[in-house]
Amino acid sequence: MEGIRYFDHAATTAVKEEVLKEMLPYFSESYGNASSLYSLGRKNKRAIENSRQRVAHALDANAKEIYFTSGGSESDNLAIKGIAYANKSKGRHIITSKIEHPAVLNSCRSLEKEGFIVTYLNVDKNGIILLNELEQAIRNDTILISIMFANNEIGTIQPIKEISQIAKKHNIYFHTDAVQAVGNLKINVKELGIDLLSLSAHKFYGPKGVGAIYIKETVNFQRIQDGGHQEKNKRAGTENVPGIVGLRKGN
Ligand SMILES: Cc1ncc(COP(=O)(O)O)c(C=O)c1O
Repeated sequence: MEGIRYFDHAATTAVKEEVLKEMLPYFSESYGNASSLYSLGRKNKRAIENSRQRVAHALDANAKEIYFTSGGSESDNLAIKGIAYANKSKGRHIITSKIEHPAVLNSCRSLEKEGFIVTYLNVDKNGIILLNELEQAIRNDTILISIMFANNEIGTIQPIKEISQIAKKHNIYFHTDAVQAVGNLKINVKELGIDLLSLSAHKFYGPKGVGAIYIKETVNFQRIQDGGHQEKNKRAGTENVPGIVGLRKGN
């Protein structure tokens, strides 16, 4: 990138040389399908599980709570629709904010067409949601609060722990789109009380088209894509092994 000064790391980052080096063998040397039982498959399965451990460690989660996806948009869709469909007998109300990424906003709009009800919270002049407005928006049938960790346009960081405490008090799941936060901020999902979290590799020196979702073990969640049993039956599709190997926390 000689001669280019790039100032928009919120949009994307370049893949780090050392990350690319780790990824390369998985394109054409070790190209096995991770679901295959012979050695080429098993080797790639191990590479995936290694990466899962690394992501889990970075978030202070358990490896079995990490599922690989095609990026932040898919993780957001999965979180919002996966919770909505699994818990609709309990309620059909969702709370989010007006400044979410389109992956969250448009998932909510899709659900509205299916009879779900969504409250879009305002933010104050500093781009932060008002906790009293959040409390007031909660109804008996609220099943999910989805508030982003850090905003992609203005960089504001929401009071995640306070939001999760409100959600917990009312027995409501809490999802956070942390696509702009992972890699920049230390995130401990247990300490912060997060139930679901979205992240995307290309925001922290990994490749585009790969991400992950953290889903706390106890969350009642339903897969949204029909297909095979990959990712413990939560996300169908042959795993993107080079991408998953390239999904590592780093800056
Ligand atoms: C806050 C936020 N959420 C979600 C996304 C979507 O992530 P991806 O590009 O991996 O689909 C982005 C990407 O710009 C983002 O900034």
